[in-house]
Amino acid sequence: MKSAVFDKAANLPEGFRKLFENSNVSLTVADYKRPDCPLVGANRVFFEISGYEPADVIGHNCRFLQPEGGAGPVTARMRRFLEDPAAKDAKFLVPNVTRDGEPFLNLVYMSKLTREGEIALVLGSQFRVRAGREELAELYDRALREDLKRLNLLTSESNWIVLGSFEALASSHSIIAQARIE
Ligand SMILES: Cc1cc2nc3c(=O)[nH]c(=O)nc-3n(C[C@H](O)[C@H](O)[C@H](O)COP(=O)(O)O)c2cc1C
Repeated sequence: MKSAVFDKAANLPEGFRKLFENSNVSLTVADYKRPDCPLVGANRVFFEISGYEPADVIGHNCRFLQPEGGAGPVTARMRRFLEDPAAKDAKFLVPNVTRDGEPFLNLVYMSKLTREGEIALVLGSQFRVRAGREELAELYDRALREDLKRLNLLTSESNWIVLGSFEALASSHSIIAQARIE
């Protein structure tokens, strides 16, 4: 399988495709301007985590990963984040299910991207939480932070702006630990 798959019609920043191909974390991108915010790109790690094929993913809203009965209150929080013009980036712990029906806890990061002042894309990243493997969350944060730095560099000379700064968010490790306590 290709290391990243995109909707050919998608309008993405220069270098975006390469970033997806080279990343070691799960990356997705949705078109905020199209009805229901469908995914227009995803990389190999996303297909591996979810078990889905490109044809199931491209053109569909990412909620297909949620259980049949819904993912609970976090769904409304994600919707509010997407609808709030002042919200830039956020992390959510979401119960998801692989294509084979295996439930997993997904730490979803989202950051909005603007073009000419309007929100045009949403970058998504997924981390599959594994019990007893807390160190993986720190490695994930580090890898995602590097990808976001690269994304910032490659958009710095274009009319795209990555709104999320990631640094302002709690570490993935602490979000997972907090969820365990609750
Ligand atoms: C780029 C992007 C990636 C997303 N990734 C996931 C994901 O991995 N798992 C998930 O459950 N929801 C994910 N979502 C959130 C859902 O697509 C959807 O926005 C959420 O369920 C709230 O909307 P709804 O109430 O209309 O379903 C993602 C959204 C975007 C824009």
